[in-house]
Amino acid sequence: MRTIDVIRDTKIDSIIQESSNIRSFFFKDEPSLKASPGQFVMVWLPGAGEFPMSLSLPSKRGLASIGVKAMGTGSKALYESKVGDFIGIRGPYGTSFELGSNKGKPMRRVLLVGGGTGMVPMIVLAKALSKISISTTLVVGARTKEELPYLGISKKIIGAKNVFATTDDGTYGFKGLAHEQVQKLVAKYGFDEIFSCGPEKMMAQVFGIAKENQIPVQFSLERIMKCGIGICGSCTIGPMVLCKEGAILNEKDLDTLRSEFGLFHRDKAGTLRPI
Ligand SMILES: Cc1cc2nc3c(=O)[nH]c(=O)nc-3n(C[C@H](O)[C@H](O)[C@H](O)COP(=O)(O)OP(=O)(O)OC[C@H]3O[C@@H](n4cnc5c(N)ncnc54)[C@H](O)[C@@H]3O)c2cc1C
Ligand code: FES
Repeated sequence: MRTIDVIRDTKIDSIIQESSNIRSFFFKDEPSLKASPGQFVMVWLPGAGEFPMSLSLPSKRGLASIGVKAMGTGSKALYESKVGDFIGIRGPYGTSFELGSNKGKPMRRVLLVGGGTGMVPMIVLAKALSKISISTTLVVGARTKEELPYLGISKKIIGAKNVFATTDDGTYGFKGLAHEQVQKLVAKYGFDEIFSCGPEKMMAQVFGIAKENQIPVQFSLERIMKCGIGICGSCTIGPMVLCKEGAILNEKDLDTLRSEFGLFHRDKAGTLRPI
């Protein structure tokens, strides 16, 4: 067993409310600080369970962080955790975003598309891209203004003029769905690569636009994960084991997953269910 596979006890040091339904939790954990953009950890909350969570930006004080949204009972318990509560961390796991992977050509301008907690890996990626001077545009989508996460930090990292917010109800930014804004921006700028994480139906729409315009992609997908290390098989999507071969997939991977990507996922019993 590798040392990263052993659960490391730590405590929640601090909490920030990022939007009306997402909270950042900061904690001490050296291996998490060494993770590459897009990797995730398994977070154990005693009595509640263990959940895959993307690593977010570390704090200035060198604390690792995750951004949590309450989905079911387990993540709700994590979302409601308090400063000083114990958590356990395994990982980091999974693949990471490849920077400058545009088939050997230098990337000049890339588009990031995030929705909900999918914004967590997007801000980590935005920070990494800002360090290598790649021009970055971000589309962040939410149902309503209060649910738009990480707007302030995104504007700080890539500049306010490069951040395009969309809300379904029009309470902030463009009124409509994220992919509609993506369509407009792709028509204007082209882009060398598109990165995305968020609701799978949104990513499937963005993938359609990328394909039409022959733009390579790297998308971070989510499936139910139990072991996180390729043993239990709960995270399979098509022929792939997402926790090991993903969670970041490129356009070739997504093409092979056409019958599932954006359409179906497996429930806890392994049965395919419509998304
Ligand atoms: C690689 C990866 C990174 C993730 N990063 C984050 C993150 O940064 N922040 C965050 O809040 N959440 C993240 N998630 C999702 C998070 O792990 C799940 O929301 C959580 O495990 C749900 O647990 P639960 O007990 O609350 O829900 P359950 O009661 O188990 O399920 C509630 C509902 O969510 C569905 N569900 C459960 N787990 C998943 C999953 N992994 N993918 C898709 N649907 C699921 C169930 O089918 C059910 O419909 C990530 C998931 C993966 C795979
Ligand atoms: S979560 Fe067990 S194989 Fe991927």
